Amino acid sequence: MLPKKNVMLGLMFAVVPLFQAGSTVIAADVPAPVAAGTVSAAPAPTPAPVLDAAQLRQRGQILALSCSGCHGTDGKSESIMPSIYGKTTGYIESALLDFKSGARTSTVMGRHAKGYSADEIHLIAEYFGNLSKKKN
Ligand code: HEC
Repeated sequence: MLPKKNVMLGLMFAVVPLFQAGSTVIAADVPAPVAAGTVSAAPAPTPAPVLDAAQLRQRGQILALSCSGCHGTDGKSESIMPSIYGKTTGYIESALLDFKSGARTSTVMGRHAKGYSADEIHLIAEYFGNLSKKKN
């Protein structure tokens, strides 16, 4: 009996360090807790990629897609919704900023405009402004 028990114990001592070794590998993936007062070892947030003019225009076009559901394709409304086609970049931008801030009362535009940053509003307004300048 005794020798058998010793074999079991021996096995346990042989196996346990394996588990421990395994768990230390996992623990190494988890960032170590940072002690108070020390500089955080967490990586700095990656800066937003710098987009070129063409990429920004494309972004404006994508953001502007959400408007067509109400204002019609290219902002040409065929319903009671106001058309935004034909309006200038400046007009659309200030309208959206006013809706966003609540300076201009609205039914839905305030809620919608709040979802965009001022930069995004600028891109959307530029998209519609440029569209209106084209002959179409
Ligand atoms: C859910 C429908 C809906 C969506 C989506 C929507 N709008 Fe509107 N929009 C309206 C309504 C309704 C009005 C009239 C003001 C109000 O009551 O909210 C309006 C008004 C406007 C006006 C003022 C028009 C004027 O003649 O002064 C502008 C500019 C405008 N929207 C731009 C946009 C842009 C740009 C988007 C996309 C980012 C957009 N809207 C998305 C419904 C919508």
